[in-house]
Amino acid sequence: MSYNIAIDGPAGAGKSTIAKLVAKRMNFIYVDTGAMYRAMALYLLREGVNKEDTGKIEEVCEKADISISYKEGEQIVLLNGENVNGLIRTEEVGNMASVSSPNPKVREKLVQLQKELAKKTDVVMDGRDIGTCVLPDANVKVYLTASVEVRAARRFKELTAKGETCDLNQIERDIMERDERDMTREISPLKQAEDAVRIDSSELTIEEVAEAIIALCK
Ligand code: DC
Repeated sequence: MSYNIAIDGPAGAGKSTIAKLVAKRMNFIYVDTGAMYRAMALYLLREGVNKEDTGKIEEVCEKADISISYKEGEQIVLLNGENVNGLIRTEEVGNMASVSSPNPKVREKLVQLQKELAKKTDVVMDGRDIGTCVLPDANVKVYLTASVEVRAARRFKELTAKGETCDLNQIERDIMERDERDMTREISPLKQAEDAVRIDSSELTIEEVAEAIIALCK
């Protein structure tokens, strides 16, 4: 049986940084499910699909073949065979992912892939619905959160470090909007699983959060 750690939480809570570190320490594979939804969103944007057009999203998503592979421990997301890692971290793609990810057809496809991965491999998987829907039997479940201000400041730092011009207030508004969408959607809303441990990372270092999660595995 594989060992599964599920980490859920809102955008910018530090899920990917923490999950990556925990996976490295535990010698597990890190599965970034948000990247899969982002790859799907990129495909929809490339195909010129309107955010509001649910029917079109359903039709077009069937044509996207999304898979993941690993290179030197790093997850590579393949969209119809193309490595799209460098293209999915923009605000445009993130916003499209937030709008298109509630679609049942999109979820069905990607959740199946995530379940298969976790069945055969020890994983640290992060997302929004991992503890509640994708891996309800995960060995350890964590709900990682942080205040909106802290999350916006982290995102701002990340984007400016990449040379992107951005506005802190706008990022804060986007985060609040995204939280609202992710938490109130009908299908697989972001919510803490009953058996998940809640960790607020606002005042904690990366090291402290990672250690807290590793301690839960013992
Ligand atoms: O974590 P992220 O910002 O890369 O995720 C992008 C979007 O994908 C986010 O708005 C919510 C969605 N998502 C989801 O619905 N389910 C997941 N397991 C992971 C992400």
